Amino acid sequence: MSVERTFSIIKPDAVAAGNTGEILAMIQKAGFTILGMRMTRLSQAQARAFYAVHKERPFYEGLVKFMTEGPIVVLALEREDAIKQLREVMGATNPANAAEGTIRKRFATNIERNAIHGSDAPETAAIEIPFFFPTADLL
Ligand code: RTP
Ligand code: MG
Repeated sequence: MSVERTFSIIKPDAVAAGNTGEILAMIQKAGFTILGMRMTRLSQAQARAFYAVHKERPFYEGLVKFMTEGPIVVLALEREDAIKQLREVMGATNPANAAEGTIRKRFATNIERNAIHGSDAPETAAIEIPFFFPTADLL
């Protein structure tokens, strides 16, 4: 496995609950280097575009509403096998199925309000990182 990059969002539920610092600590303890980090708030158009892959799903409108309800923290991350490793630290989409010690087990409320996003494949990371970070801004 080689060093790769992934993209993450600390979602509005986790930011509003004051869990940003603890989630960042878990990400760093898991061996990730933070290449880019910014607090922002998604517009409707950005949320729709970011989750366009889910536009036919029944949860799409609710997801867009949730992701635009308040500030988020966007992260460009790097480590060995970053995409798979981040999803390990995140835990399952539904916190009821998330393993002990994962971010979603600790901080998610339910299958929708689940604290964190992580890219699911190299092709996805390659789209999601530049969605928020111009390449020249990354260290
Ligand atoms: P993410 O994309 O945010 O990292 O999450 P994921 O890969 O674990 O899950 P995915 O299937 O891609 O779903 C994207 C986000 O949509 C919301 N969701 N709600 N109400 C529902 O049944 C439902 N299913 C998914 C969650 O916020 C999920 O993370
Ligand atoms: Mg996903």
